[in-house]
Amino acid sequence: MEPLLFLTGNSGKLEEARHFFGPLGYQVEQFVIDGEVPEVIEPQADNLRNVTQSKINQAAAYLSSCNRKGSVLVEDAGLFIDELNGFPGVNSALILEQIGLSGILNLMKGFNNRGAEFRACAAIWDGNQVIFGEGVCRGEITEEVRGDSGFGFDPIFSPEEEGTERTFAQMSRAEKGEFSHRRNALNSLKNQLE
Ligand code: IMP
Repeated sequence: MEPLLFLTGNSGKLEEARHFFGPLGYQVEQFVIDGEVPEVIEPQADNLRNVTQSKINQAAAYLSSCNRKGSVLVEDAGLFIDELNGFPGVNSALILEQIGLSGILNLMKGFNNRGAEFRACAAIWDGNQVIFGEGVCRGEITEEVRGDSGFGFDPIFSPEEEGTERTFAQMSRAEKGEFSHRRNALNSLKNQLE
């Protein structure tokens, strides 16, 4: 079977996609050209689907410019906080870089409603068509940073399915993979591939 070439520089996402697709018989590889992950420009967009569409266009162009066989996989995710009207949303990467986890916790001071959700949109281009999969994971923003696994906002997000106070960063990859937004988005892709 041809590989699924995941265009991402995020090793956490790569491992999660491998963990998901591996047992299904798909071989997920990082999409690199001459040993480098090709540069992807994230467009200014108001929803994840449009960001993902732009990423898949760029990935398809890279695929046709090199002699790799396979399909390309791209994914975009963000954290949407209820009391902040969905902030940081599609700007999650930029905001995390600028204010960090402590900045998010400061913005949440005084709010009783700590509801939030991760959303992910993934897409595969197989050379002929694009398929999209979307996934959500509801949860809460914790009062403090907890755990050192995972990446990004994991240490301040506690998924509601967990039933405990643990954050994603206090779980193994397998545990996070049971109900994460990315798992749900990849699951939707998988159902369309079958
Ligand atoms: P992007 O999809 O790489 O653009 O991600 C946007 C931001 O959300 C980045 O700062 C990521 O680190 C963060 N992010 C995406 N997925 C997750 C996740 O599963 N857990 C925690 N943070 C995430």
